[in-house]
Amino acid sequence: MFPYNESKTMRVLIVDDERNIRLSLKKYLGLEHIDSEGAESGEAALEYLEGETFDAVLLDLKLPGMSGQAVLEWMRQRGILSPVIMISAHGQIPDAVNALKSGAQDYLVKPFDPAELIIKLQNLIENKRRENRIEAEERTAGQGNTLIGNTPAMKRLSQQIDKIAGTDITVLITGESGTGKEVAAREIHARSLNKGEPFVAVNIGGIHEGLMESELFGHEKGSFTGAAARKQGLFELAGRGCLFLDEIGEMPMPLQVKLLRVLQERKIRRLGGVSDIPVNARIISATNRDLEAMVGEGRFREDLYYRLNVFRIELPPLRDRPEDIPLLGEHLLNKVASRMGRSVPTLTAEAVDRLRAYPFPGNIRELENILERAIIYAEGNVITNEAIDLHERPAAVITTPETMSLEAIEKEAILKSLARYQGNRTKAAGELGISRKTILNKLKTYGF
Ligand SMILES: Nc1ncnc2c1ncn2[C@@H]1O[C@H](COP(=O)(O)OP(=O)(O)OP(=O)(O)O)[C@@H](O)[C@H]1O
Ligand SMILES: [Mg+2]
Repeated sequence: MFPYNESKTMRVLIVDDERNIRLSLKKYLGLEHIDSEGAESGEAALEYLEGETFDAVLLDLKLPGMSGQAVLEWMRQRGILSPVIMISAHGQIPDAVNALKSGAQDYLVKPFDPAELIIKLQNLIENKRRENRIEAEERTAGQGNTLIGNTPAMKRLSQQIDKIAGTDITVLITGESGTGKEVAAREIHARSLNKGEPFVAVNIGGIHEGLMESELFGHEKGSFTGAAARKQGLFELAGRGCLFLDEIGEMPMPLQVKLLRVLQERKIRRLGGVSDIPVNARIISATNRDLEAMVGEGRFREDLYYRLNVFRIELPPLRDRPEDIPLLGEHLLNKVASRMGRSVPTLTAEAVDRLRAYPFPGNIRELENILERAIIYAEGNVITNEAIDLHERPAAVITTPETMSLEAIEKEAILKSLARYQGNRTKAAGELGISRKTILNKLKTYGF
């Protein structure tokens, strides 16, 4: 299975004048669950490219009429940035190199092994995904003060962030799950002198142990089976910005040793590489585990702990600052309602009291989920006590309490799906297997 992303099949445009090549590539890609279209000429390719965004374009260099090179130039002039793999015949290698110079991402020489094509496509997608992730992170990093809270604890936190933002000190952020550790890390970066540089976040608990070293430090082409191209590690990608090591407590011991060495020497070496690359990024790590206890039990290296814990930020649980609930509630309702494409409701005084009395084991994330459900249950634009359901459930499951009518279940499914697709009705309709028109009609009956 081609690891593209959870919801989308990859679409590739194959531009080649030889019908057999188009058909056999299409068949081969199909086996890897990749969708494709074939265009028999440069001119036909332009028509496809005008109508649709492809995830990648395989472009034969030599075509009758408009050449592959001309198609590539046309694409880039038009701002069509889909990655291009140029396909050249043996004698055309210098041309293929020129194509790389004018913006193709890679090239293949005919005849080629289709497996090689799959690896190249995989690399293109992986790079694109990393670029997108870093771009998205840069965008959110610029959004200014996102740490809502007026209680003394939150004010102190804000002062602490101001104090360290202008330095490059290493920070360890601790706190229960959902207390805003990642928000705080982004805030430190957003207030720093290097806020224009990348903020790269990595969830240590989410990376397979065997891939962690290459993910963090990068690798050279051929350094291990499957390393088809050079890859920059996240330390390198963070540049002079910030590297956020989330769930640092999940780091396996052998990697802890390597990370310690990198922090001591402030330089990395790609796997299979021969030269050192300086580490200039600020390192922020976070965990909801008790690292001190882990050190005591021999599960986390003490020397690494001291390297990471140079400056400590402790996020308070929400139950210790219930005074912030009205303000946070307002902020989160704004956020959730706009994600769902709804007008922003208000909370009644009783609803606020009910929330203030609740201990929030899942902290702010749980408050956000509760408010999301409340918007779905709410009648009109006011969230009352009754709309607040304090039982946390996994977000993806459609819950069906016994008192819920079939209509209410349907309404919840539709609104949740709309929320997942940022209000895009066509996509929600696709997911639910109903027509867009049905969604529009339903929304009308709900009074939206
Ligand atoms: N002070 C805050 N102001 C506004 N929103 C916040 C604040 N803190 C957290 N949030 C929101 O709460 C949710 C959880 O925050 P975040 O992901 O930073 O928590 P976390 O501590 O990293 O949690 P985990 O340990 O589960 O990874 C996010 O949606 C975030 O936007
Ligand atoms: Mg987190």
